Amino acid sequence: MKKIVFISSEGVPFIKTGGLADVVGSLPKCFNKEEYDCRVILPKYMCISEEWKSKMSYVTHFYMDLAWRSQYVGILQTEYEGVTYYFIDNEYYFAGPKPYGNIYQDIEKFAFFSKAALSALPVIGFKPDIVHVHDWETGLIPVYLKDKFHEGEFFRDMKSVITIHNLKFQGIWDMKTVKDITGLPAYYFAPDKLEAYGDANYLKGGIVYADRVTTVSETYAEEIKTPFYGERLDGLMRARSNVLSGIVNGIDYDEYDPETDKLIEKNYSARTFRKEKIKNKRALQKELGLEQDDRKFMIGIVSRLTDQKGFDLIAYMMDEMCQLDVQFVVLGTGEERYENMFRHFAWKYQGKVSANIYYSDQLSHKIYAACDAFLMPSLFEPCGLSQLMSLRYGTVPIVRETGGLKDTVEPYNEYESTGTGFSFANYNAHEMLYTVKYAMDVFYNRKREWNKIIDRGMAKDFSWSTSARKYEQLYDELLGW
Ligand code: GLC
Repeated sequence: MKKIVFISSEGVPFIKTGGLADVVGSLPKCFNKEEYDCRVILPKYMCISEEWKSKMSYVTHFYMDLAWRSQYVGILQTEYEGVTYYFIDNEYYFAGPKPYGNIYQDIEKFAFFSKAALSALPVIGFKPDIVHVHDWETGLIPVYLKDKFHEGEFFRDMKSVITIHNLKFQGIWDMKTVKDITGLPAYYFAPDKLEAYGDANYLKGGIVYADRVTTVSETYAEEIKTPFYGERLDGLMRARSNVLSGIVNGIDYDEYDPETDKLIEKNYSARTFRKEKIKNKRALQKELGLEQDDRKFMIGIVSRLTDQKGFDLIAYMMDEMCQLDVQFVVLGTGEERYENMFRHFAWKYQGKVSANIYYSDQLSHKIYAACDAFLMPSLFEPCGLSQLMSLRYGTVPIVRETGGLKDTVEPYNEYESTGTGFSFANYNAHEMLYTVKYAMDVFYNRKREWNKIIDRGMAKDFSWSTSARKYEQLYDELLGW
């Protein structure tokens, strides 16, 4: 039996701010249970809902040195869908209304979490062969593994994998403070190790010291070796290219299934969408106060409202797009200027634009089920999950050809009648507008073709089955058994 531990700052269903949580929450249960015992360690944030907290049971606690202080480390445990989850408890670090706050606090919080999660392993008696960490918050773990932890027999042969879900966030803070907090010797604070551009960089530490580095699509794995996508670490990514690979994310096909989804108005399948999907559109138009019209081309946007997702292109073109025969349904939170922009357009184009500036799992399902198209013009996109959910729900993605979007959405080719969506290459507002208009034209004037695009999209398989096998293969190679 190969033993794996995922250590992450978020995971569904306990705590989620982004796609990372979906991956950490859905991948571990997809490994072959006969061969892999995969468990997960998360922080026990105060903001986890009571529903989940009440299911956790206390295991034990101990005190751990972090720099000059001795800190309480509580361990709780629960089982969910056949996977064992451990939670690291410390009310000083994990208080607050959200998992992340000020970066200077987060820097210390995740140094604590990283060291505590490793220190907890011998205490709970789980000795993983591989420690699989995710993003900058757990980037120190491969460093710690190579440092002090390496001395004892318990950790000596442990391998580590780091998955980059987003290279933009690196966990950067000044070296002196980080030296203090982490207790790592000066040796590590050099440009070929934790240091980048004069500061300490957690993600860089992880990339330098992990045995394997993965990211969440093949295209993104290539892109980050270039300056445009490399977030100032492209040189490092090139240097690590012999251990760097891309494995595209999947989504939870039980949770996202239009045939059984309890959150949507009317269930449908690849066979019945032509007749049934429209009932979801009707219900959503009614619920959100949009004009009631079956034929209207309804475009969905479910996203964190940040620059990464291409909202400056949308901002630039929104007025023009609203002159077209379309409806927009937006769901998400993020940068204030984008939140206000959508509120503004919802006011300006009543009945045509619906701005839902909050987080709602239920509404997101309804949007995937109701809309005709889904717009995602990202500046960069390590993988992207919404386009996969759209494909599953027969909602045609309109995307920019970058990262995982490029790997998962095949552009419509009207001459060969192939493709599952619409895409454009350059980060250019007019290219986006043109592509939206093209999709709209197919929708209004060649409905049979449009439905065949949906047929092909719904026939694709983006469950974890293929990608989980690729992770297993990577683990096997790394262990050599
Ligand atoms: C991050 C990325 C997104 C990816 C997700 C899960 O949120 O921005 O592209 O799908 O992580 O890996």
